Amino acid sequence: MQDAFRDQVLAGKVALIAGASSGINLGIAQRLAEAGAKVMLISRSPERIEAAARTLTEAGHTALGRAADVRDYDAIAAVCQETEDTFGKIDIVVSGAAGNFRAPAAHLSANGFRTVIEIDLIGSFNVLRASFAHLNTPGASLMSITAPGAVRPSTFQVHANAAKAGINQMTRCLAMEWGPAGIRVNAISPGPIADTEGVARLAATPEREQALRNRLALRDYGTKRDIADVALFLSTENARYITGTVIDCDGGSGLGDASEDALTAPPPRG
Ligand code: NAP
Ligand code: COA
Repeated sequence: MQDAFRDQVLAGKVALIAGASSGINLGIAQRLAEAGAKVMLISRSPERIEAAARTLTEAGHTALGRAADVRDYDAIAAVCQETEDTFGKIDIVVSGAAGNFRAPAAHLSANGFRTVIEIDLIGSFNVLRASFAHLNTPGASLMSITAPGAVRPSTFQVHANAAKAGINQMTRCLAMEWGPAGIRVNAISPGPIADTEGVARLAATPEREQALRNRLALRDYGTKRDIADVALFLSTENARYITGTVIDCDGGSGLGDASEDALTAPPPRG
């Protein structure tokens, strides 16, 4: 049995990571590459994705960056084919491309709603589905990046919460259908992660930032490394019996508002 956190545990493995030009997904790509995987990175912007791949190759890892929009199935399928041709069959897929903004539903256009559904939910299906014919089976590990809002609704987020809820159910459906082929399908649900675009957009002012932090049971933001370690674990044999699951790595965000301090509260009377 491998040890998930031993160096080079992914030597010889091939990973495809969508939405990997920045943030959480780039952190995952870095972690998988450090563990020895050859990584194919995807995002829309050629400049951003090539720069991301360069940071990995300059650190001595094997990485390529390709521009493709997850809304364009054929473009994603072409990158999957190129990944197999260049590196071999794909062992690990991380589907994490997303778009988000705060918008009250009464002012959100139909196209704004559709755009986020198309990137997050349909895009995730496209990445997982397009990779299917190129997977190294049995043993492949697929994961999407969801969010606590998939389960616990929040205001100004109808588009993103609906998309991520779809991802959670898609995860379970694909796990049932593809499990017999030895393919595991899971999702990771990060809470607010420091120094990311997602947090910059959702907690744009210091007041909102502090309020968000105070609601968390653990009272702190997570790091990209926290999420990357979960992705690494899911990528290894140590997770061989885990499928159809959403793993919360969220400081308690999904539990709800924990801002009331129960530890300093007076004991009950009587
Ligand atoms: P980010 O840095 O903006 O990452 C989003 C990535 O998706 C970028 O690489 C972006 O690159 C790519 N992308 C966007 N639209 C795309 C499209 N149509 N096709 C292909 N690539 C596309 O954001 P992040 O905050 O790290 O978020 C990463 C993931 O974590 C997302 O799934 C997000 O929902 C989830 N998440 C984040 C947090 C958080 O605290 N940050 C919390 C919960 C969940 P290009 O612009 O080059 O396309
Ligand atoms: N509030 C309300 N509506 C918004 C909006 C905002 N802040 N930003 C975009 N929209 C609407 C647009 O008005 C448009 O609708 P319309 O045609 O009815 O006017 C629709 O969304 C599509 O916008 P567009 O800019 O054409 O989409 P895009 O495909 O170029 O970009 C986004 C997608 C909007 C999600 C963009 O923010 C993006 O690329 N995000 C990626 C990075 C990111 O969000 N990271 C955090 C991940 S958690």
